[in-house]
Amino acid sequence: MQQLGYIAQQAYTITEMTLEHLFQPLGIGPTTIQCRVVSTSHQTTLVENHLPTEEFVAYQEARARGGVGLIILEAVAVARSGLLTAHTLGGYLDDMVDGYRRIVAAVRPHGTRTFVQLFHGGREMIASAPRPVVMSSSAIPSPRYHTEPRALRTREVEELISGYGRCARVAADAGLDGIEITAAHGYLGQQFFDPSMNSRTDRYREEARFLVEALGAVREAAPKLALGVRLSADSVAAQRVAPELVDHVDYVHLAIGDSSTFDGCTGIVPPPPSPRNLIAGLTRPFQLGRPLIATSRVIDPHDADRMIGTRQADAVGMNRALITDPDMPRKARDGRRFLRCIGCNACIAHYHAQTPIRCAQNPRTGRELTLPRPAPARDRLRLVVVGAGPAGLAAAAEGVAGGHEVILLERSHRVGGQVCLAANAPAHAELAASLLDNYAWLWDEPAVELRLNIDADAQLVEDLKPDRIVLATGAAPFSPPHRLEGIPTVSAWDLLAGTKPAKSVIVADWGGDWAGLDCAEMLNVAGVTVSLAVGAVTPGETLHQYQRNQYIGRLSRSGVTIEHYAALYEARDGEVRFRNIFAPELETTLRADMLAIALGRVPVDQLATEFAARRTRFVEAGDCRSPRGLEEAILEGTLAASQMVTGQTPAATIGA
Ligand SMILES: Cc1cc2nc3c(=O)[nH]c(=O)nc-3n(C[C@H](O)[C@H](O)[C@H](O)COP(=O)(O)O)c2cc1C
Ligand code: SF4
Repeated sequence: MQQLGYIAQQAYTITEMTLEHLFQPLGIGPTTIQCRVVSTSHQTTLVENHLPTEEFVAYQEARARGGVGLIILEAVAVARSGLLTAHTLGGYLDDMVDGYRRIVAAVRPHGTRTFVQLFHGGREMIASAPRPVVMSSSAIPSPRYHTEPRALRTREVEELISGYGRCARVAADAGLDGIEITAAHGYLGQQFFDPSMNSRTDRYREEARFLVEALGAVREAAPKLALGVRLSADSVAAQRVAPELVDHVDYVHLAIGDSSTFDGCTGIVPPPPSPRNLIAGLTRPFQLGRPLIATSRVIDPHDADRMIGTRQADAVGMNRALITDPDMPRKARDGRRFLRCIGCNACIAHYHAQTPIRCAQNPRTGRELTLPRPAPARDRLRLVVVGAGPAGLAAAAEGVAGGHEVILLERSHRVGGQVCLAANAPAHAELAASLLDNYAWLWDEPAVELRLNIDADAQLVEDLKPDRIVLATGAAPFSPPHRLEGIPTVSAWDLLAGTKPAKSVIVADWGGDWAGLDCAEMLNVAGVTVSLAVGAVTPGETLHQYQRNQYIGRLSRSGVTIEHYAALYEARDGEVRFRNIFAPELETTLRADMLAIALGRVPVDQLATEFAARRTRFVEAGDCRSPRGLEEAILEGTLAASQMVTGQTPAATIGA
């Protein structure tokens, strides 16, 4: 086995520390959870006609089988007007009883408790035309979704409160263990208790009244169920109202964020470089004598254990950690390795795109019924994988899990591909370290042979006598045909890889991926004067909105000059010229000592062309098929190798 060529800061050191607190039971009102890891409410889009599908049930069962103590089912609307999207569960529907029963039947045998989150978005609504009427505590427009609600009439508020009771009865009839009312994230509950959103003149002007009445309705309808409230810990209004709520609940659940603002919404599912364990420092005002569940950016069970040990929380929501590896609790308890969440936010991107939940790091998430876990194959085969970026690493991992021999060939001196470039920028340092950590076990496997600094050609690969060839040769930066003269010009990748920058750099970014933003941010941190010219509607146009918002926030604070709607077209005599993408006759001229280009990527597929000419069978995975993201790379790498196990033909499943 050759030495690994990368020196990545390991995000997680394996410690011998035992998990003293995490696997202690916790009483929550009338129920007890078997351990203190919680799968928090998250919309899966495994929903049809506002009811859970079979995929939904299988998804939740996977979490229960993995040993989680409590599953809080995703937001369930208490009334039609509270449906956040076309895929929100309808807690008010009679058919929900059957849906809940199927979930409880799948989850309970594993000892896991099931609560449901009762929800009304109020003025927060994601809808397309013809859009429904939006209602809130008051007629105050919401800046992020640009909704313009009318104020609920007093009678309507009373009906909604009865709706909470009705939904609680449905949940109790179906055998759920508890109910959580969400008043976090700026949703309806918060729209009542936050004075900046409540200008009413009736009795619901009192900050706590709406929630207290809703909690009362639930308690009356489902007296044997645990009852909690979810609040955003970073909301001053929530901190103020919490003491008025505790007498009405069995637990308090803390999240972060505010759906109604561009800055606040990023806190709902905060990506790195938001600090790990973000919630830990915000729990104190909510320690009011009720069990406290704290959630946000906790991805390591040791951190969760420490939070409980230091009394920052009684239980810890580890939502994305469990989306990545539902078996994490059991594995952590047994001291086994598990897949770490890399913080890419593909999961919430799927939610916003209204497509079924997926995890970039774990292709089996959301595919519990269609992509079985790898089983050892009858015949041990030799798999040669060319390219050790994410697609190649995923193929290697799947090959080993299937009991095969894997030879992994990599042109550069390290594994990781583009992830290693991104590792040098603040936005992706943690992602890169976590991803490489997730595959580090491969290098201890006798079945894996890693060969670095190998520029593989078809003959070299064929000489290895493979049973299956997986090509994961990645992508390279696109060189535009523009006339670029009179200024040193490099690719953003060159700078990210360590090319020395000049004192001032113009980054020409097409807005289609991370490279331009990471380059600009890395240079800025290093003290370079940076102008970022973006030829798109917004910087990071194709990134998930929370990441995009955070990039824009950080770049705005850092003094990077951002030139909007500016598409590069030429450089001459030390001047770099851009055209406005909406009004091409408008030009902008920028000056700097260096030009860095981030105008997209092209596939590296020469080897595929070579094999095709030789009529050698191969499977391609990831960017060499056409450059896209981590999710596609890892999915396709996994499928390329799993087909060896199942014996399916490559064309049958790749790209599914
Ligand atoms: C795909 C997705 C959907 C979510 N939907 C909900 C929801 O329905 N209700 C809610 O209160 N929070 C929702 N959240 C927020 C999570 O409950 C949790 O607070 C968030 O993921 C941060 O925790 P983590 O850092 O452990 O992932 C969602 C998160 C994700 C990733
Ligand atoms: S998609 Fe990314 S952020 Fe979401 S759970 Fe998976 S690894 Fe974590």
